[in-house]
Amino acid sequence: MKYQGIIFDLDGVLCSTDEYHYRAWKALADRLNIPFDRERNNLLRGVSRMQSLDIILEKAGRAYSEQEKAAFAEEKNALYRQLLGGMSPDDLTEDVRRTLRELRKTAVRLAIGSSSKNTPFILERLGLSGFFDAVADGNCITHSKPHPEVFLKAAELLGLPPRDCLVVEDAHAGVEAASAGGFDCAAMGDAKDDPRAAYHLKRLSDLLKV
Ligand code: BG6
Ligand code: MG
Repeated sequence: MKYQGIIFDLDGVLCSTDEYHYRAWKALADRLNIPFDRERNNLLRGVSRMQSLDIILEKAGRAYSEQEKAAFAEEKNALYRQLLGGMSPDDLTEDVRRTLRELRKTAVRLAIGSSSKNTPFILERLGLSGFFDAVADGNCITHSKPHPEVFLKAAELLGLPPRDCLVVEDAHAGVEAASAGGFDCAAMGDAKDDPRAAYHLKRLSDLLKV
């Protein structure tokens, strides 16, 4: 491994919570009669909760007050957290488990770099609290991806310069953030073919060959 640190995005990289984000936003959009589908959902990957809501409301055909928007975000998050509550360590795929286990045996330092404020709860549900050397998430940043802040924070917590860290992402906004911060990026899922990424992963364990 040519890197001393790996910074993982969480939703859509280590676990399929991206599907729960979709279902919770879809329930809200349906209730408000706003068109929303999986393709549009891809625009929400990596961006903050309020920015995600703004993208959804672009199709609303009317304006909402800041107070209404705060209530919508709260409604979505309550439903999302209900879905997260049903998760357990069994929600980690065998491929993800094996990858984390193998990497943990090496000297490579491992971090989370996620825009989500629910990161601590998700890690707890997955049995991964305390597993990572550093966690940078939506609770400690002011700009979400494509701004590089969360990855720079993770690298700083690892005590490594960006050039020594590899970012793993499933969002185009995340690949852009990695590039803006001076990190190499391994892209998978929705962002797999993003030309700004140095590596294109079919599955997480492809990382073990980097
Ligand atoms: C990112 C997701 O990880 O977290 C986005 O890709 C989401 O879709 C963002 O909007 C914020 O998540 P949360 O859990 O703070 O609402
Ligand atoms: Mg993601």
